[in-house]
Amino acid sequence: MTSQTLTDSPTALDSLPYLDPELPIAARVSDLLDRMTVEEKVGQMLQLDARDDLEDHVLRRHVGSILHTSPERILQAADLTSRTRLRIPLLVGEDCIHGHSFWPGATIYPTQLGMAATWDAELVEKVARATAIEVAATGIHWTFSPVLCIARDLRWGRIGETFGEDPFLIGELASAMVRGYQGSGLSDRTAILATAKHFAGYSETQGGRDASEADISRRKLRSWFLPPFERVAREGCRTFMLGYQTTDGVPITVNDWLLSDVLRGEWGYTGTLITDWDNVGRMVWEQHVQPDYTHASAAAVTAGNDMVMNTPGFFEGALDAVARGLLTEDAFDVAVARILTLKFELGLFEDPRLPDEDADAVVGSAAHAGLNLETARRSLVLLENDGLLPLDAAAPLKVAVVGPLADDAQTQLGDWAGGSGQAGWLDGQPREMITTVLDGLSGVGGWSVTHARGADILTLEDDPRGAKFPDGQPRPAVVVPAAPDETLIAEAVAAAAASDVVVAVVGDRIELVGEGRSTATLELVGGQNAMLDALIATGKPVVVVLLASKPLVMPASVSKAAAVIWAANPGMQGGRALAELVTGAIEPSGRLPISFARHVGQQPTYYNQIRGQHGDRYADLTQSPAWAFGEGLSYSTVAYSDLTLSSADLGVDDTIVGTVTVANTGSRPVRETVQVYVRDAVTSVSWTDKELKTYRQVDLAPGESRRVDLELPVADCTIVDAAGIRRVEPGGFALLVGPSSRDEVLLSAGFTVS
Ligand code: NOJ
Repeated sequence: MTSQTLTDSPTALDSLPYLDPELPIAARVSDLLDRMTVEEKVGQMLQLDARDDLEDHVLRRHVGSILHTSPERILQAADLTSRTRLRIPLLVGEDCIHGHSFWPGATIYPTQLGMAATWDAELVEKVARATAIEVAATGIHWTFSPVLCIARDLRWGRIGETFGEDPFLIGELASAMVRGYQGSGLSDRTAILATAKHFAGYSETQGGRDASEADISRRKLRSWFLPPFERVAREGCRTFMLGYQTTDGVPITVNDWLLSDVLRGEWGYTGTLITDWDNVGRMVWEQHVQPDYTHASAAAVTAGNDMVMNTPGFFEGALDAVARGLLTEDAFDVAVARILTLKFELGLFEDPRLPDEDADAVVGSAAHAGLNLETARRSLVLLENDGLLPLDAAAPLKVAVVGPLADDAQTQLGDWAGGSGQAGWLDGQPREMITTVLDGLSGVGGWSVTHARGADILTLEDDPRGAKFPDGQPRPAVVVPAAPDETLIAEAVAAAAASDVVVAVVGDRIELVGEGRSTATLELVGGQNAMLDALIATGKPVVVVLLASKPLVMPASVSKAAAVIWAANPGMQGGRALAELVTGAIEPSGRLPISFARHVGQQPTYYNQIRGQHGDRYADLTQSPAWAFGEGLSYSTVAYSDLTLSSADLGVDDTIVGTVTVANTGSRPVRETVQVYVRDAVTSVSWTDKELKTYRQVDLAPGESRRVDLELPVADCTIVDAAGIRRVEPGGFALLVGPSSRDEVLLSAGFTVS
């Protein structure tokens, strides 16, 4: 074997072809591959947790990649790599999900769902670019973002990680995010690898339970779940992460149809596949579809996985599979070549991209704080307003800011942030970087602000089954909702009684959100409902700020609130943005990327459901959501009229050209999101009643009216037929245009495709 001709002396390496940057990458890969032992190849396919024994990972298991690195561990890992035989640099990965999540002092933006409420792909691209700049400066090369899962059952703990419920909007925003991360190409030192995850269908959970069997047909996958992935695959997203779930009994990690036929075959994807956390091990100990690590490892390699995330036993398993003839020695070459290609393209052999000495100049920079503020402003959705808002910042108002989330800085950041528990080396982001709602409102000119907590949310108890899962991962604690506390409520009511206006900040906490933390209910947990009831009963005007990772169900009393604002998890600048919105320093422009339920029993509530059920309501409740996809108020009023099409008789290759008048009929400026849906009148198989196909955002001054041009290729008016083929079916259609997905507010223009 060539590798035996090498000495351990680093100088002996320097003249080797794979270290020659002048050679084409393919030649370097092939040279290096020839020199690697089978152990080194298997190790190269492994990505292990840097919080464990780094020395063992790098020196014994020859890992190709690590994740979850603290600032110190990155340097330690690089030092260890420099002592290895071939000095193959590590790919360093991290969950930089809405900013550089776990880097102390990094900029933390609104969550993906919060960003989705902006409906602004350009802004999302800027956030991803700024994130990449911070991430790259700290020696990390790969982010496991964005999430392209479609939000379905709102009880699922990971709803806040998605871009919401619509495949088109998800595709637009995911594509923008990938562009932002990958920048002008991997040779750019500020570019990081993006990951489209979790491929595919992971969000189709049963009962909202995380990683449960996704009961989903191939046709359904092709119809709604795959299109956003196909888009970013074709646009060059460099890596894909495979979900945890099984579909039709087959774990995605070994799903030949999805990986080989669709992804690699039909879409021609040449990027790198990474499993999710211990997917290979889970096939053994959780899903029980493989008898041992030897067979599981062999199956994962054979199915075409390139990198195996955190299954340490893959190393021994894959080698044993070779020894037992389940895999040939060259079975790893394609995967290893892909990983090495990424490393060469990133230039890591010449420059391992260790943390910059002046990383502090970009991490958490003032420019990024500015971008963060703009994103937070745009992410806020005004759901109700009886005219109370905006409040006059100059008036001598007494404002009671109450609620358990009014001043909870780390909770405001949500999941995948310093305090969310995935990283042990920090327990939150610096408090001084975060503006809470209380901070924001306390800074308003003429106001005098008081604060009362008003309610507790929860306490935690150890799970009686033990603190860890069989794979050693921590088992989430059991949430015990806090009982309403009469003393806290009395304090809140007293603050309200002494005020002119109440701002009540309620929502969820990290213990109710995230992987393995789905909820059975969607109601506000703990004493929050009782507190809201009591506040609203005072008769004072109450502005409810819902600081919640995902849509929650409001208590009946909230129908009497003066205003309701959804702030998702709005990031570090959230409190300041909120204060600007409440005082009218900015205009509300966020629109819902996801529908809100009135009751948990309405699940699922997404707007684009399939036609054909008996009736359209429950016997005891409407099916209509509390707030629907696309909704969001402005401080002004907007009227739509005169939807016209330049032609209503079209061929499949034509473009639908429409125009609609959008008028700002109020006295304040407006940023209006003009939404365009298509309804296919008769389809050969059941289909959704309407689907978002495009949208435009227009700024209108008070009194301004504009003809807005809309264009849509007929080729986008597709369904997926019974054979699973996406096609335009000739016949009658309607173009639906308006401010949200609700039928009542949409103008309609018919057209025929022949
Ligand atoms: C598991 C999660 O499902 C995935 O989204 C994440 O990227 C990995 N863990 C790594 O933390």
